[in-house]
Amino acid sequence: DIHNCNVVELPKIHNRAGNITVIQNGDHLPFDVKRLYYLYDVPGGSDRGGHAHKNLYQLIVAASGCFDVIIDDGKNKKIIQLNRPNYGLLVIPGIWREIVNFSSGAICFVLASQKYSEEDYIRDYDEFLTFKASSNDH
Ligand code: TYD
Repeated sequence: DIHNCNVVELPKIHNRAGNITVIQNGDHLPFDVKRLYYLYDVPGGSDRGGHAHKNLYQLIVAASGCFDVIIDDGKNKKIIQLNRPNYGLLVIPGIWREIVNFSSGAICFVLASQKYSEEDYIRDYDEFLTFKASSNDH
């Protein structure tokens, strides 16, 4: 459930010329990264990504700017603001998530455990609730 979706602090290597944050398979995440995609040029204030995944793990990072992530397990909801490039929100499978309140110029990195597969998506909220009810049955 949403209590297993945590904000992860990522390493930050700091010097006079700026910072480096690194995410490396095996070190910071409970999954190996198969895909990175990023949202950018999102009009300020607009909303993205109302969907859930059946099997995908993801880490969501505000690489620039800020936005809010709403996570929902069908019972509880939580809103998490991401606003630093060295923090990421881990989203486990079976969570409905929306990304809202993009600041202008925001870049949303999503590191994902699988390649793109439309079959892994649940894009309808009622279908999501049905999926949660059936996966709680056993
Ligand atoms: P979508 O997941 O619907 O975006 P959002 O829910 O954030 O609004 O993706 C938009 C389009 O991009 C959709 O047609 C699928 C395509 N897409 C890919 O082809 N590969 C990917 O890795 C992703 C994330 C999306």
